[in-house]
Amino acid sequence: MSRLIRDLCGVVIDEHKGYLIEQRLTPIADEYNCKSFSELYHKLRYTHDENFEQKVIDAITTQETLFFRDTLPYEALQYKVLPELIDAREKQVIGKTRIRIWSAACSTGQEPYSIAMVICELIPDVHENWDVQILATDISDEAIKQASRGEYSEYEIGRGMKPEMLKKYFIKTPTGWKVRDELRSLIAFRKLNLLKPFVGVGPFDVIFCRNIAIYFEPDVRKDLFKRITEVLTPDGYLFVGSSESLIDIGPQFKPLYHCRTVFYQPNKFANTTDTLTTVAAAT
Ligand SMILES: C[S@@+](CC[C@H](N)C(=O)[O-])C[C@H]1O[C@@H](n2cnc3c(N)ncnc32)[C@H](O)[C@@H]1O
Repeated sequence: MSRLIRDLCGVVIDEHKGYLIEQRLTPIADEYNCKSFSELYHKLRYTHDENFEQKVIDAITTQETLFFRDTLPYEALQYKVLPELIDAREKQVIGKTRIRIWSAACSTGQEPYSIAMVICELIPDVHENWDVQILATDISDEAIKQASRGEYSEYEIGRGMKPEMLKKYFIKTPTGWKVRDELRSLIAFRKLNLLKPFVGVGPFDVIFCRNIAIYFEPDVRKDLFKRITEVLTPDGYLFVGSSESLIDIGPQFKPLYHCRTVFYQPNKFANTTDTLTTVAAAT
């Protein structure tokens, strides 16, 4: 079963965590009248029923996330990455300056909304005079639905939301809080499996691909970041999770350090021997 899950979404579940699979898939086995996990496995493997597969993906993937997760990447975004991009892009165009950002495994939306709040803080006239869009994608239907609704419980808001941001960008509802339309309008939500080719996606100036590739096998992870380079502008920026590093991926990304955090840019000289040495020295 863990191999099948890996084929569906890339997530590797440790053999010792078989109980996790059992716990999460039992309700689906019941729903599809499977008397055993082996029956569930065969149905899933051979019927190619997309709804069935989606239910398994929704049940098995971990949507753990929070607003402004790890704080420092968002400070680097606000004080370093976006100002540099704005400078570079403003010189290139006449008319509205265009910036594209991708939150590549956005879970229930806290990540793209945090990015959107940073943008609004930095560019108060973003709706009038700028062409800024965030694409937020995830493999989980359920996660994307919640993200798109932009509704959060008090508990979810309590995890990372700053009071001044809550006041400015959310409206109180009887059960919690709802993102204001102005913030929501900066984001397009879409289902996307990171294992599949990125068709009609990009190019992006900034990509957040945080806390997902760590669950993939090394080759799958390497291939993912190779494909990410292809949809990142040459002077674009990539953020990964705080416990992740791209050092082992090879020379195609160079690490940059700011605000006690690390993020990456495509390495223009990735194919030259000189750069291999430079990157190794920098890391
Ligand atoms: C732990 S959450 C991380 C959310 C957010 N990026 C953060 O750092 O807070 C991982 C997310 O990756 C999604 N995911 C798992 N496999 C995926 C795949 N193959 N393609 C796209 N998203 C995937 C899960 O549904 C989940 O929402």
